[in-house]
Amino acid sequence: MSLLLWNHQVTARHYRLFTDRHDRYRIAAKALVQAAAVAPGHRVLDIAAGIGCTALACLEQLGDGDVVTAVEASDAMRQEGSARTRDRPITWHTAPPKGQQYDRVICGAAIWALGPVSEVIGWMAQHVAPSGVLAVSLPAAYLGEADAPGGGSDPRLIALTEALAGLDLGNPTATALTPLTEASLTQAFRDHGFFLSRSSIRLRLTQDAYRDWLALPPVNETLLGKVSPEERPALLARCSDGLDMSSWRWETWALCAGTRVTR
Ligand SMILES: C[S@@+](CC[C@H](N)C(=O)[O-])C[C@H]1O[C@@H](n2cnc3c(N)ncnc32)[C@H](O)[C@@H]1O
Repeated sequence: MSLLLWNHQVTARHYRLFTDRHDRYRIAAKALVQAAAVAPGHRVLDIAAGIGCTALACLEQLGDGDVVTAVEASDAMRQEGSARTRDRPITWHTAPPKGQQYDRVICGAAIWALGPVSEVIGWMAQHVAPSGVLAVSLPAAYLGEADAPGGGSDPRLIALTEALAGLDLGNPTATALTPLTEASLTQAFRDHGFFLSRSSIRLRLTQDAYRDWLALPPVNETLLGKVSPEERPALLARCSDGLDMSSWRWETWALCAGTRVTR
C-alpha cells in the first residue's frame, strides 16, 4: 500500500510543493549527509531518493566530477526528482546498479517503510564498500521518542489530526508502519558488521508545514483513506481553516551512521 501511494501524481506534486515551501526534508537531508561524512571523491548511493533532497545535499559536500546514484522505486517520485535535478550530476535508477559498491550508502526518511529493519539494513549493506558508511535518518518519534511541545495555542500540533479523525474517513486497513525500535535498529547495524554512531538534530515543525505534510497521500491514508488522493488536499485545506498558524512543535530526527568494520 505504501509504495502504491508514493507512486501517485498527487504525492509527487505535493512532495515537491512541500519541499519548495518548507525546509523539513532539506534540514534532515543536510544533517544526514553531515552524519555520513560525505566528502569529495566519494561514490554515493542514495536509497529511496524521493525527489532528490538527500542527493542534492550530498552534492554540496562532493567535488567536481563526483556523481550521486539515486535509487527510487516510485515512478512518480523518480520522474519528479529526475526533472527537478535535470542539470545536476545525479543518475536515477529504479534499483541499485548491480555489482557496484559505494563509499557512502544513505537513506533519508524512508527506512521504516522499506521492510523489516534487519533485512533492509542487510540489503543496503551489500552495497557498502569496505570501510564505507551506511547512514539513515528518521523522525525520532518513529522510534517511540516523544517530541517536546513548542508554542502557540496548539503546541503539540494535534488540532488538525483531531479534526480529520472526527470526519471518520479513515482507512482502518492502511498498512501500519514497520515496527521499529532503537534497539532493533542498533542491532541491525551491528549484525551486518557496522560500528554505529547515533546523533540527532531538532527542528521546529510549524502548523503550516505540518498541514502541508499531511496533504501527502501516504501520510494521510490512515485518516482520509475513504477519500480519493485527488480530493484529500482540498478537504485538508477546509479542515485547517481557523487553526492557529503560529503554533509549532519540536521535531527530533535520529541520525544513524554505521562504519563498516573490515575483517
Ligand atoms: C519521505 S520520502 C523520502 C525521500 C528522500 N529520501 C528525502 O529525504 O526527501 C520516502 C521515500 O521512500 C520511498 N518508499 C516508500 N515505501 C517504499 C517501499 N516499500 N519500497 C521502496 N521505496 C519506498 C518513497 O517512494 C519515497 O520516495
